[in-house]
Amino acid sequence: MPRMAIPERTPARPIDALLRESRTFEPAPEFRRQANVSDPAVYELAARDPEQFWAGFARELEWVRPWDRVLEWNPPRAEWFVGGKLNVAANCVDRHARTHRKNKAALIWEGEPGDVRTLTYQDLYREVSRFANVLRSLGVRRGDRVTMYLPMIPELPIAMLACARIGAPHSVVFGGFSPTALAQRMNDAECRVLITCDGYWRRGEVVFQKHRADDALRQVPGADTVIVVRRTGDRVPMQAGRDRWWHELMAEAPSECPPEEMDAEDVLFMMYTSGTTGKPKGIVHTTGGYLTGVYATTKWVFDLKDSDTYWCMADIGWITGHSYIVYGPLANGATTVMYEGSPDWPDRDRLWAMVAKYGVNVFYTAPTAIRQFMQWGPEYPARHDLSSLRLLGTVGEPINPEAWMWYHRHIGREGCPIVDTWWQTETGMILITPLPGITTTKPGSATRPFPGIEADVLDDQGRPVPPGAGGYLAIKSPWPAMLRTIWRDPERYVNQYWNKWDRSTYYAGDGAKRDEDGYFWLLGRVDDVMNVAGHRLSTMELESALVEHEAVAEAAVVAAPHEIKGQVPAAFVILQNGFGPSRELEEGLRKKVEEVIGKIARPERILFTPDLPKTRSGKIMRRLLKDIVEGRELGDTTTLRNPEIAEELRQAYWR
Ligand code: PRX
Repeated sequence: MPRMAIPERTPARPIDALLRESRTFEPAPEFRRQANVSDPAVYELAARDPEQFWAGFARELEWVRPWDRVLEWNPPRAEWFVGGKLNVAANCVDRHARTHRKNKAALIWEGEPGDVRTLTYQDLYREVSRFANVLRSLGVRRGDRVTMYLPMIPELPIAMLACARIGAPHSVVFGGFSPTALAQRMNDAECRVLITCDGYWRRGEVVFQKHRADDALRQVPGADTVIVVRRTGDRVPMQAGRDRWWHELMAEAPSECPPEEMDAEDVLFMMYTSGTTGKPKGIVHTTGGYLTGVYATTKWVFDLKDSDTYWCMADIGWITGHSYIVYGPLANGATTVMYEGSPDWPDRDRLWAMVAKYGVNVFYTAPTAIRQFMQWGPEYPARHDLSSLRLLGTVGEPINPEAWMWYHRHIGREGCPIVDTWWQTETGMILITPLPGITTTKPGSATRPFPGIEADVLDDQGRPVPPGAGGYLAIKSPWPAMLRTIWRDPERYVNQYWNKWDRSTYYAGDGAKRDEDGYFWLLGRVDDVMNVAGHRLSTMELESALVEHEAVAEAAVVAAPHEIKGQVPAAFVILQNGFGPSRELEEGLRKKVEEVIGKIARPERILFTPDLPKTRSGKIMRRLLKDIVEGRELGDTTTLRNPEIAEELRQAYWR
């Protein structure tokens, strides 16, 4: 792996400001008293015998057959709960439907227009079983992959759990990705079944998802079955023999479906995410370890109680939604809230109105959303009674202390602990986080590794860096929900994550520092991955989308700081002979990116240039482009073939 510069600072949060951050917040005694975990000794206990620590959580789940060994670790290949058999849907649904939770709300869903559906554990049991039967009747067998291209509607978790029930790995593709991106993911996973819907609501308008799915399916030769959920009721084209309505299939399906006995190491799902190349990676998660990891972290980090109403604002199309809307909360028998639409529809107080309406106790969102709430102003949350809230969480990027303090004041009313949780698609579960009944928090720091997790900050040679110095975040021992491989690309799995130091140390791709108290401060990505409003994008994917446009000869994309989104793509583009810069062309390039990846990837800035800063061997020096967009002084330009271009670009960018 090439040497990479550790960032000095992240866009939304200068590191100097961080190091000056000295406010601390201790857990309140009342919170500590009621917390699921409040004894700091858990850290030491877990460190002494991590396998037994995780086995303790695993034993709280329901196994068809117990495991023979907790961990088989042949770096970098891990197997957890070897020999154990279980079913994830049985653990998330059946187990609770048999108890006092039978008529407890498992899922409270609100559509953007205000329609509400509540599914109790018993309802969920029937729906999941029915849909599992539907899938079976359509020939889906254990091991077959099923893709979902759905918005935030209850059918999405139902379909995921139905897949889990019959042992068919699911691949949920974020509904905002383009048809081309969907097709690429379906082809990579060799999926023949797609679940989508007619449309969904976004800011009062219908997004016609089925049309987008149809565009994708033209590029997926292997697809032969499409199940369409009726959400908006709009007329959509249905292709005879291929497309079927969800509600018609469900009407005929029996509501009992025995769960498959799955091996702890069978694949539960794959989730495509952006890496440092143009091709998204299918991150593979398995059954026993994943469920144990998300179960444990949901219980301890969110301090979840049977009486809680829990709301994670993420989209299920991302890992956060998988782990902390669906699997973690349901494994805990919780009530989990889902919302279809936009936070500013019909007004900017929508989320707070929902918190009050459902009496939400635990609320989990992202820094980009918090910065958006800040910009809208505190009057919106102030319109509603938020006194039910008792714990707040954040995830997705480093949170700037101002946003943390705003969240604390205006949403938490200075009485809720905030858990800043660091993790990734690959880690499956939260790895660095406060425990709300134990940890004294510092705004901007994800604090300490979860018990049983061993993390460090290392330099290029794998040596721990001293407190205060920047380095690479490393995880030094395996954890139950870790990714097992990259779908059909085991080599990339090794090279990407386990090749920087020794084969047993996980390279996360994030820069980090530790302070004198051992707290971790995350500094953002050190590779070509950017984080736009919580969406993970690769500069390479963006660049290859741009060069697909006929006018583009060469393109370089870097992440520019943005007040609300954290980062946004900035593109430097060299045009082909015969094309000149224009507003129309700029818009055309944005359209191209939208077409290939999705709206979320639209470059905020496009700068046409006759040349790019390049080394003598012709490599683009993105480091200099980063200096430019971050408004830093230009780094060393002496090794450039064309040193003058960097300064010219800087002036053009800031003109
Ligand atoms: O850079 C880190 C950032 O998000 C990346 C992972 O993105 P993704 O796989 O899309 O998963 C996001 C949700 C788990 C990480 O490499 N990140 C995530 N959480 C934090 C964070 N950076 C700082 N602090 C966090 N709490």
